[in-house]
Amino acid sequence: MKDLEKMIKELEEKIQNVKDNNELNAIRVEYLGKKGSISLLSSKIAELPVEEKKTFGAELNKAKNRATELIDAKKKEIDDKILNEKLASENIDVTLPAMSIPVGAPNILENIIEEAEEVFMSMGYDVVDGPEIEEDRYNFELLNIPKGHPARDAQDTFYIEDETILLRSQTSPVQARTMLAAGGDKPIRMICPGKTYRRDADDATHSHQFMQIEGLLVDKNISLSDLKGTFDVIAKKLFGENCETRFRPSYYQFTEPSVETDISCFVCKGKGCSLCKNTGWITVSGAGMVHPNVLKNCGYDPEVWSGFAFGFGAERLAMLKYGINDIRTFYQTDLRESKTFDRRDV
Ligand code: DAH
Repeated sequence: MKDLEKMIKELEEKIQNVKDNNELNAIRVEYLGKKGSISLLSSKIAELPVEEKKTFGAELNKAKNRATELIDAKKKEIDDKILNEKLASENIDVTLPAMSIPVGAPNILENIIEEAEEVFMSMGYDVVDGPEIEEDRYNFELLNIPKGHPARDAQDTFYIEDETILLRSQTSPVQARTMLAAGGDKPIRMICPGKTYRRDADDATHSHQFMQIEGLLVDKNISLSDLKGTFDVIAKKLFGENCETRFRPSYYQFTEPSVETDISCFVCKGKGCSLCKNTGWITVSGAGMVHPNVLKNCGYDPEVWSGFAFGFGAERLAMLKYGINDIRTFYQTDLRESKTFDRRDV
């Protein structure tokens, strides 16, 4: 019995100096393990006289429980300490300013084109694509602009191979491509946003590369009033419900009649200002009824089919809508500019 008391005392002292679970485990083995001191003592029970067996057995059990209790309590103390240290070291101060992660922004033109695509798609238009390296045939000839025609001079074209392969000077060739692909017997409703090229010197209002949004609708019984109605809806969606529209007569080889489409000036509301050059109106696109020759050239019978076409300058739309006054802004990819007009929710 004395031995037991001594043993527990000794255990209590040892435990006080334990620093980690490894040391504690060693102690557990030393006392409670199969060959530990307490287990060894229990094997001694057999040697004791009967009357002592019971009391010694009870004491031994007590000692065993006490040893387990002491070791378990120490284990909890060590585990708590480890946990608290971990919590302290991994503590996150949510009040610290967050690290800023730089993100890009779509080019401003991307914004305006996406917006226009959404508007036209909501009216059932397909968004189509066409090549930037184009044949003279599509860029001019099929569009009723034969070789040697003065209308070609207005579009200072980059030729790539003699006079047959060029960088498209307008997105209008996609009209011809779309009609030819459709086979002359199906209605068409498409827009084509894309890059175009002209031999212009770059300045605040000119860029040798710019973007157009071409549109074409072909069906039966289409008239100029359909174009007017469509343009009116588009203008209101892009520039607001109060936007008014008007047509002015114009001339394009591939449309007859041809018009310039104007919107009422959203800055001065028609009173006259520098943006609208005191006219109260701003021109946003060229348009017209598809010329019978173009329909014919592209496989549509002008006696049966009619249609309208239009071409917006994408930069011009964006400049008007966002109040940008230098076309070069779009091509300098300055994030500070792009971010200002980012439509995404970032
Ligand atoms: N392609 C013309 C240009 O670059 C713009 C244009 C005018 C397109 C009238 C059209 C249209 O489709 O009908 O100046």
